[in-house]
Amino acid sequence: MLPSFEDKINIAIIGASGAIGSAFVEAFTAYEKADKIYTFSRSNIDNKHSKIISHTINIENESSIALAAECVQEKLDIIVVATGFLHDGETLQPEKSLREIDENKMIKSYMVNTIGPALIGKHFIPLLQRDRKSVFAAISARVSSISDNQLGGWYSYRCAKSALNMFIKTASIEAARKFKQAAIIGLHPGTVDSKLSEPFKKNVAEGSLFSPAFSVDELIKVIDIIKAEQTGQLFAWDGQEIPY
Ligand SMILES: NC(=O)c1ccc[n+]([C@@H]2O[C@H](COP(=O)([O-])OP(=O)(O)OC[C@H]3O[C@@H](n4cnc5c(N)ncnc54)[C@H](OP(=O)(O)O)[C@@H]3O)[C@@H](O)[C@H]2O)c1
Repeated sequence: MLPSFEDKINIAIIGASGAIGSAFVEAFTAYEKADKIYTFSRSNIDNKHSKIISHTINIENESSIALAAECVQEKLDIIVVATGFLHDGETLQPEKSLREIDENKMIKSYMVNTIGPALIGKHFIPLLQRDRKSVFAAISARVSSISDNQLGGWYSYRCAKSALNMFIKTASIEAARKFKQAAIIGLHPGTVDSKLSEPFKKNVAEGSLFSPAFSVDELIKVIDIIKAEQTGQLFAWDGQEIPY
């Protein structure tokens, strides 16, 4: 497992309480190579294994992100940002038309989908290994692709995830100067059964809704095969590059 990484690796998962985040924690815990697994979430989650070190984080608050990064004692081989926001189950819903664009909805989406991950990059990318392969992977979405946008709608989410892609690309250029073997990438997990996708599940073609465990197994394969030369790009669960 993870043949492209050294024997013992340290991992951080931000958004460990979510469907995809918790599947990453579970999958990495089962890997012998994983030495320390730092998990960060808004709510406390149970330490299911001695290699898991849990800490709270609110990605809408930079001090909270800085404090979380300070508790990491080792250099990190893999950082996964699995936080995200699409709807609140109540009033904040993705827009179907221009008239549904709302300042608060847009601010919330940018806070969680762009600004939070950028601040995580600020505090966590410096913790990557410098002398061997390392990966910073933020979960973006296929709908962030400007060239692939056929359907319209979901203004806040699309815009905020596109801005996340620009952060990834820009950070990858800066990181390449110091972290020559690092890949800073975005990942599209497919359509995955989670709280975030719940209201839209009925529109998904039969057999196309992934379990979090399946999606994460595929995403870990992508993290494993990715090379530093591919830094700054967005990849789908099957390893295909998604053009911005
Ligand atoms: N599910 C899909 O079909 C799909 C498709 C494409 C992309 N994605 C992306 O995949 C990622 C994971 O989504 P998911 O499907 O696993 O959804 P999820 O189960 O709803 O997980 C979202 C996670 O984000 C965390 N979060 C939100 N705001 C936060 C904040 N201010 N501070 C700290 N944590 C915060 C949530 O924490 P709490 O538990 O505390 O709320 C939760 O852990 C997201 O970036 C999403 O956009 C998902």
